Amino acid sequence: MDLLVKNARIITGSEAFESSIGVQDGKIARISPNLQPSGAEVFNARGKIVVPGGIDAHTHMELPVTNTVSADDFYTGTVAAACGGITTIVDFVDPHPGETMIGALSGYRGRADSKVAVDYGLHMMFKGQSLGEIDRIPDLVSKGVPSFKVYTAYRKRGLMLDDPDIERVMKKVASVRGLVAVHAESEAIIERLIRENLAAGNTAPVYHALSRPPEAEADAISRVGALSLAAGGRLYVVHLSSRAGKSEVEEARRRGTNVFAETCPHYLVLTDEVYGREDGRNFVMSPPLKKAADRAALWEGLAPGGVIETVGSDHCPFPSSQKDWGEGDFTKVPNGVPGTEAIIPILYSEGVRKGRISMFDLVRVTSEAPSRHFGLAPSKGSISVGADADFVVIDPDKRVRMTADVLHSKIDYSIYDDITTEGYPILTVSRGEVVMEEGEFTGKRGRGKFIPRSVGA
Ligand code: URP
Ligand code: ZN
Repeated sequence: MDLLVKNARIITGSEAFESSIGVQDGKIARISPNLQPSGAEVFNARGKIVVPGGIDAHTHMELPVTNTVSADDFYTGTVAAACGGITTIVDFVDPHPGETMIGALSGYRGRADSKVAVDYGLHMMFKGQSLGEIDRIPDLVSKGVPSFKVYTAYRKRGLMLDDPDIERVMKKVASVRGLVAVHAESEAIIERLIRENLAAGNTAPVYHALSRPPEAEADAISRVGALSLAAGGRLYVVHLSSRAGKSEVEEARRRGTNVFAETCPHYLVLTDEVYGREDGRNFVMSPPLKKAADRAALWEGLAPGGVIETVGSDHCPFPSSQKDWGEGDFTKVPNGVPGTEAIIPILYSEGVRKGRISMFDLVRVTSEAPSRHFGLAPSKGSISVGADADFVVIDPDKRVRMTADVLHSKIDYSIYDDITTEGYPILTVSRGEVVMEEGEFTGKRGRGKFIPRSVGA
């Protein structure tokens, strides 16, 4: 045995029990109360909680956006992930102009493989430029990329597809039992509001939020829900941010659409009030933060049977010097915030400890459901014999103020620095290797592996 975690209180999606975990060759070899170390490294988890390593199925490491690239590369971003208890990320391949999807996939593999500190998979961003390659979708599925992201917004960035093209993509993806992810915000509503706001001289960060209201999200979800039903496919609504959007996911499900949604830690703990702060531009992401009632609805959506089945981070940070580009024009702020390191601390401290979700819910939305939906089971997403030894130990008594110097993302501020957690991850194990202990990254650059995913369910 290589590693023994003893006296652990292990939590799965449905049960909690005291036991010890024996790890051999990167896999969970034994789960039993009376394991003997026999030469293994021993970690005594008495009084601590052990859950499966988190799966963050929504990251954007080194993502090219207008005039810049997101601040974390595949190394620093996965160090941040490991330090927050995330042992698998799924990032999004963004083909450059003129690049094929297969070419872009190998480019991403080339950049990521030598850097990743935890395991990773990839989704494919399906942009207008790829419509001529729609028949390559099955090839991508066979290469372990069974999920395709479409956008109903970002026309200027070349990301938006019109509804008939979205339906074509959905049909092709459905034919190979893949998954369509959607960034759902209606461009028509957003374009009009941005135009009106800028014309009226409304340039501050709060107008970013006012130009992307809940109705923009709800309208887009209603449309793509109907398209997905017609295509007979599976639909994943990324970064759900509003109560109105959630109602539309529920309505789509009632009508028979095979759909689930993801929300992100920032929507669960912040509101649009932050846009009035002096550093309001640092909170600019799309969709934007909404009201306290939206935040409450998102927590409710995480309950068993709810439509919000996963929490991903949409990790896409930029330094404040680049966020400053929006001085005098909110549309110039690079969109995106950090988050992969925050998922488990926020869900535990602000969710479980405050009675908004149960510990079982935390496990379900951070590991069990993502492993099933994104085709990572059975090796990822559970503490069970034969699974990869990916788990995280949470100290329920550890209080951490989530300031920039504590977090590992390569930016100079924290959007969570008003939060002091009750409980925090203290040990992360990835395929049997301790990659974080007491907030320090202890793994190695490039030790993570690409995980070809199956189609999921
Ligand atoms: O604001 C967001 N969601 N940024 C992530 C990267 C992108 O532009 O999709
Ligand atoms: Zn995103």
